[in-house]
Amino acid sequence: MQTNLTILGVTGSIGSTCLDLLRQNPGEFVLKGISANTSVQKMAAIVLEFRPEFIHLMDENSALELKSMLPEHKIECGMLSLLDWLGRSEMEIVLAAMVGNVGLRPVLQALNSGKTVALANKETLVSAGHLVKEALSQNPVARIIPVDSEHSAIHQCLRGENYNEIENVILTASGGSFRTYSLEMMQTISPADACKHPNWDMGAKITVDSSTLMNKGLEVIEAHWLFDIDYDQIQVVVHPQSIIHSLVSFVDGTVMAQMGNPDMMAPISYALNRGTSRSMLKSMKRLELTKLARLDFEEPDLLRFPNLKLAYDAGKIGGSTPCVLNASNEEAVARFLAGQIGFLDISRINQRIVEKHASVSNPGLDDILFWDEWARNQARQAS
Ligand SMILES: NC(=O)c1ccc[n+]([C@@H]2O[C@H](COP(=O)([O-])OP(=O)(O)OC[C@H]3O[C@@H](n4cnc5c(N)ncnc54)[C@H](OP(=O)(O)O)[C@@H]3O)[C@@H](O)[C@H]2O)c1
Repeated sequence: MQTNLTILGVTGSIGSTCLDLLRQNPGEFVLKGISANTSVQKMAAIVLEFRPEFIHLMDENSALELKSMLPEHKIECGMLSLLDWLGRSEMEIVLAAMVGNVGLRPVLQALNSGKTVALANKETLVSAGHLVKEALSQNPVARIIPVDSEHSAIHQCLRGENYNEIENVILTASGGSFRTYSLEMMQTISPADACKHPNWDMGAKITVDSSTLMNKGLEVIEAHWLFDIDYDQIQVVVHPQSIIHSLVSFVDGTVMAQMGNPDMMAPISYALNRGTSRSMLKSMKRLELTKLARLDFEEPDLLRFPNLKLAYDAGKIGGSTPCVLNASNEEAVARFLAGQIGFLDISRINQRIVEKHASVSNPGLDDILFWDEWARNQARQAS
């Protein structure tokens, strides 16, 4: 049977990999809806290839431009029309692959209308994990299957396991492009340097986050919510080869690891199959164990990469603090990419804004949106 699918963030790195997956497995999925922000040319090509029913750009001017290119198609724009589609459509799976906290309301809407969300958009769980959990508990058919390779690995390690028997969840981190840099060398890192990742081909924001270890920090908070696990039971280990995607240790001292070559096709496929079956992925490079020279592991250095500690601390404080950290980081990374601030300023700004914020416990959606905007403004003005 075919599964109906909507992809949010269809023009991005995850969205494009998902489209490749659909091309490789014709007949498994029907692409019902697509959404992006401003990438008009890419959207036009996707529409002509896949003929989705719902075509959406968040940005109004870009939607008008797309309409002029595709006059016979209805083009929607803005948040409300996206929420309306997610609420009313018959589709079973939503791949949430837009970047940033803009994903929060669409993800909540998809869950509230009983969809399975294949979640790449980790910022949503970081900002408002408690609201996502609430939506899941109020809608028993709704589900989240993680797309992040680390959380997909943990999900796979935990299939059929008793969660009470988990000792620790161990997230692996590549360490990013500047793993061996001194603080002095980090002062001159350019946006172009930070947009290159040694193992993964990803969007700009997550690539910079990987290089500051903020991505791993966001993943720690994501793991806390996805697997109901205490922060003290979540460890991070740097593994530069990115072959082991993550691990779980159990109370009997055994450890389960999930391995593979670094390619997002596999975790996307696992999530679209709801973690219950696997598609044939011919394009996935097979792991040849005898050709692996070595697998290395090291402790993350929190002095050179303070964002990781900031995320652990924000997660433990909870309430509105993770939302503030995430929003500050989104703006700081945007400013770094625009050449306005240096690489080390990202974590410095994040720390200052989190320290300025008095955490609000159990924030509702309006509170989250308020503190998100507050932190963005602070980060835009920070010198
Ligand atoms: N890339 C990876 O390998 C990877 C791995 C694990 C998790 N993730 C997570 O997946 C998410 C997407 O990452 P990515 O690397 O695919 O990012 P990306 O390549 O930068 O793509 C981002 C997508 O989000 C859309 N978007 C941006 N701003 C938007 C807005 N305001 N409203 C609606 N859509 C918007 C973009 O549309 P336009 O093209 O129109 O701007 C694009 O389709 C992130 O949360 C990331 O942390 C990514």
